Amino acid sequence: KKAIAIAIDGPAAAGKSTVAKLVAKELNYIYIDTGAMYRALTYSAIENGIDLNDEDRLFHQLSEIKIDLKQSGNEQKVYINEQDVSELIRTDQVTNAVSTVAKHKKVREEMVERQQQLAKRRGVVMDGRDIGTRVIPDAELKVFLLASVDERAQRRYLENQKKGYEVDLSQLKEEIRKRDQLDSEREVSPLIKADDAIELDTTSRSIQDVKSKIIDLIAEKG
Ligand code: C5P
Repeated sequence: KKAIAIAIDGPAAAGKSTVAKLVAKELNYIYIDTGAMYRALTYSAIENGIDLNDEDRLFHQLSEIKIDLKQSGNEQKVYINEQDVSELIRTDQVTNAVSTVAKHKKVREEMVERQQQLAKRRGVVMDGRDIGTRVIPDAELKVFLLASVDERAQRRYLENQKKGYEVDLSQLKEEIRKRDQLDSEREVSPLIKADDAIELDTTSRSIQDVKSKIIDLIAEKG
């Protein structure tokens, strides 16, 4: 069967990566987490004391770093110039700064270029904010995942609790809302549903249910 590209977009914490990983596993496809690439640059910029509003400096920093996404068992690992930064890019500091880095045109152009290289040979499930609209506009299947802010904050809250840290639920809600606003209102490739994307609201659906739905959609496409 011919390998295709599946684009999964949506707001923060809507379950994109969890669903994308499961779909990729089922199809034996490669999962590409584009958010991890923006996070990696953000981490690297903070480490190097770069002003996150300085587009040229950020672009230069990006040109200095090789970002690799590697699958190791069920885990996704992220490397900057061979250094494992998988955990370091998930801190609150990075999470709350990444949308500022991701708004810059030069940064996005370079990221999109790298992501298009990764998607060229198909057999990929890619998640992000502009995959269906910008990175793979000709993806064979586009999904836009949604969930209420309350539900998304609740899921993050439980995730955090499992990892052993306590975060205030209302603070999480506020951070998610803020990030969505920045991502949706930026000038370059804002978060928006592609016209031909299929919208799935995951608010009261299980992960398995959403995954099966996507697998069905692929089957329908032939
Ligand atoms: O997917 P994740 O929540 O890890 O993405 C982190 C941030 O990276 C998003 O809030 C957004 O600012 C940026 N991003 C983006 N375009 C993508 C993927 C992520 O602007 N394709």
